[in-house]
Amino acid sequence: MSLTEAATPPANCPPEAPPTGPAIGTVRLRNPFVLAPMAGLTDFPFRRLCLEAGAAMAVTEMVSAVSLAHHGRKTLGLLSTDRGLENPFCVQLFGKDPQALALATRVAVLEAGADIVDLNLACPARKVVRSGHGGALLRDPDLCCRLVEAMAKASPAPVTVKLRPGFLKDDGPSVLDLAPRLEAAGAAAMTLHGRFVSEGFGGQADWSLVGELARQVSVPVIGSGDVLDAWQALGRLAEGGPVAVMIGRAARGRPFVFRECLELQATGRVSGPTLEERLRTAIRHARLIEEEIGPKACFRLRTVLMWYTRELPGAAALRAAICREEDIDAQLDLLRGAMEEAMEAEAGLPPEPPPVDGSLLGRAAPKGGVDSKGQVG
Ligand SMILES: Cc1cc2nc3c(=O)[nH]c(=O)nc-3n(C[C@H](O)[C@H](O)[C@H](O)COP(=O)(O)O)c2cc1C
Repeated sequence: MSLTEAATPPANCPPEAPPTGPAIGTVRLRNPFVLAPMAGLTDFPFRRLCLEAGAAMAVTEMVSAVSLAHHGRKTLGLLSTDRGLENPFCVQLFGKDPQALALATRVAVLEAGADIVDLNLACPARKVVRSGHGGALLRDPDLCCRLVEAMAKASPAPVTVKLRPGFLKDDGPSVLDLAPRLEAAGAAAMTLHGRFVSEGFGGQADWSLVGELARQVSVPVIGSGDVLDAWQALGRLAEGGPVAVMIGRAARGRPFVFRECLELQATGRVSGPTLEERLRTAIRHARLIEEEIGPKACFRLRTVLMWYTRELPGAAALRAAICREEDIDAQLDLLRGAMEEAMEAEAGLPPEPPPVDGSLLGRAAPKGGVDSKGQVG
């Protein structure tokens, strides 16, 4: 099966709408809902599902500027996309050397086709911080400005930054002083995830800082952190301040959260995905990953399919069974079996009798329903 076959968008893909979102430099977004960059997660299959569901933009996982500047094959592979669908295409870089970042920015724009290049000044991961990248850079505001300046000078496309309020919470939100300097250095927009670097993912994101940041700069500010659903996304926008919201963890296994945002914005209501849509999306997600990386997709699916098992009865046993499988079809059969059982329960039908050997692995795929290509039977 070719990528094109696997990539046929679902019937509920939102129609092409005129741009109504904020402008980042010369690039205007269709709407104010953006998929957050997530290392190891926001590969093209996941970004594709979110874009098809209506996300205005889906930021790539962060890639090493040094590696991209040297045309590292694996790094370039992380930037695979379909420009017909991914428009604008936003590539996130991490790095701490102005020259490497300038070179990598040019490779991202001129060779990988990026419309926007984002610099990570936010990542709290120990490995990243220890090597002086990501959030660690917030401790050196002068260097942050030099990095942005080098990128902006080298880039024909807008350069943006992803920030946290500061490194240590006790030191206060240093970003409020830094941001105007980053704007002067050439940043065309800023995203703020309202947790200090030292907080990692603990506590709650402080959205009041997103509003404060927006008042400090004249470029657009995007807010990030703990947006769980369409109501919260629209609520954050309604508070004023951010011109767009990023959704990260809540989109895992729920790319349709972007459709829900658009639906809520347009109608004041959200219809929510049916179990059938969740199953179809999971299968499509699996097949898109398989298209990209072949049979070893089964290892990745041990993570990705978990996202789709949430709220299913017997989810723990189902996850364990999926993780034991090394065959993609078998993994999908397990998920389909559990989802179709949940659909029957929802429709008030009696559940199927348990398999003779009592194991989930022994279940035969039920007839009809959604097949392993994601088609409805
Ligand atoms: C697994 C994971 C990986 C992440 N990787 C990145 C990254 O590469 N670059 C970045 O700027 N932020 C990264 N983030 C932070 C998210 O972009 C986002 O700001 C954060 O998760 C808060 O938003 P959420 O509550 O909607 O998930 C990551 C978050 C998670 C959970």
